[in-house]
Amino acid sequence: MDNHVAVKVTNLSKEFLLGPDKTVSILKDVSLSVNYGEFVSILGVSGSGKSTLLNCLSSLSEPTSGEVFVNGVNPYTLKDGKLAKFRRQDVAIIFQQYNLVPALPVLENVTLPLRLSGKIVDSHHVKALLDSLNFKADLSSLVSTLSGGEQQKVAISRAILADSKIIFADEPTGALDSVSRKLIFDSLRQLASQGKCVFMVTHDIELASKTDRALILKDGKISQQLMKPSATELYQALETSKD
Ligand SMILES: Nc1ncnc2c1ncn2[C@@H]1O[C@H](COP(=O)(O)OP(=O)(O)OP(=O)(O)O)[C@@H](O)[C@H]1O
Ligand SMILES: [Mg+2]
Repeated sequence: MDNHVAVKVTNLSKEFLLGPDKTVSILKDVSLSVNYGEFVSILGVSGSGKSTLLNCLSSLSEPTSGEVFVNGVNPYTLKDGKLAKFRRQDVAIIFQQYNLVPALPVLENVTLPLRLSGKIVDSHHVKALLDSLNFKADLSSLVSTLSGGEQQKVAISRAILADSKIIFADEPTGALDSVSRKLIFDSLRQLASQGKCVFMVTHDIELASKTDRALILKDGKISQQLMKPSATELYQALETSKD
């Protein structure tokens, strides 16, 4: 595989089992190739399968059929230890529901992947990173006491600090005010310009119009791929995708 390809997907389909004889088909025959340095947004109406696609790409949910290669590796062929290492080192995942450890302080949450990989943590660096995101709470605060937007910043700082080559972010700016939204977006943009590959699920047309490529999901397929889309193009594509 070309070493500039970050994520490659061939004929990916995903079904969920609803009962003994009942399945629901969410993604149908999706193929895609994304390079390092690209910032890709994923859009579509609620329930169109954006999170499902992100989970399939990021090693969290095995496709029913088709193949996924992330940094040249099919994560679904990895055994437990190697899969855990892959998740710690090769990818960073920012979840729609943060996925933080509520009972631990901010600092411990942010540095968890680093500590699990046996790396040394510089708390000044963590502080500077959170400061740059306009994070106001104390690093010793328990995550369970933070607001939604603050938790989102903790989740994003954790992903940035882990220094993974591929970042998957599911609505990372969903819970944020407009200033914080821009700060988070700019930090993701910066990761892409450093040569990382960034996927961002979003409902935000303005932000998506500043990404390199937008994927519009509809009826289980990528109905449109827009390169350097304008807000108007995105708006029209999304209107069509609601039919
Ligand atoms: N584990 C599961 N079992 C059964 N159905 C599921 C499962 N996970 C997701 N689905 C269904 O798949 C569809 C797509 O869900 P998904 O979460 O990917 O949507 P989404 O595009 O991310 O929506 P939103 O914008 O609301 O976050 C939904 O109809 C959902 O109910
Ligand atoms: Mg979702």
